[in-house]
Amino acid sequence: MEPSTESISTDIKTILGLKLPTDPRWTKLAEKSLQDILTDHAYCEQKAAISCISLIQRYSCKQKLVNELAPIVTEEWGHFRLVLAEIQKRGLELGNQRKDDYVNALRQFGQKGGSEDGRFLDQLLFMAMIEARSCERFKQLSEGLTNEYLRKFYRRFMESEAGHYRLFIDLAETYIDKEKVRKRWYEWLIYEGEVMKNLEVRGDRIH
Ligand SMILES: [Fe+2]
Ligand SMILES: [Fe+2]
Repeated sequence: MEPSTESISTDIKTILGLKLPTDPRWTKLAEKSLQDILTDHAYCEQKAAISCISLIQRYSCKQKLVNELAPIVTEEWGHFRLVLAEIQKRGLELGNQRKDDYVNALRQFGQKGGSEDGRFLDQLLFMAMIEARSCERFKQLSEGLTNEYLRKFYRRFMESEAGHYRLFIDLAETYIDKEKVRKRWYEWLIYEGEVMKNLEVRGDRIH
């Protein structure tokens, strides 16, 4: 059964567990730079699709992961197309991809050496983290923008990314001990809160 929109909103507050809520100034800034925010969003969706493809390639022996991520690739690519259509409908341009400071900072936190399981877990939690923050940002837009059409537009993304966040956590718990996942997720949340605190509040990017 599909969760009701009401329960999704409550879930986002309680389940995502983000340590630092988005600065309320961000939504207003984003509203003023619609072309930039849409462009950035379009590339975020592309990157999400690419990351799912590389997880499938890297972990092709894990059948559940392959089966669950295959449709997410299609979904993320569908998101890219939706955002692209929105850009073009408004007579705006896709523009260039920017350097992604947020994602690069998160990447630093992922385990590079050590056990195979540890590296695998961090790759899933890295994805879950980006989904969780994106979901929170889309929630801000879906509640804070003045334009009703855009509020609905972003609500759809918010709901999707909430599902993806859960999927990555579920996948982690399928292959790795739940207690280990929970402990490491908490470390990711703390780290991400620090990253957010140090990032400039800019309306031309999703993160
Ligand atoms: Fe997406
Ligand atoms: Fe996603």
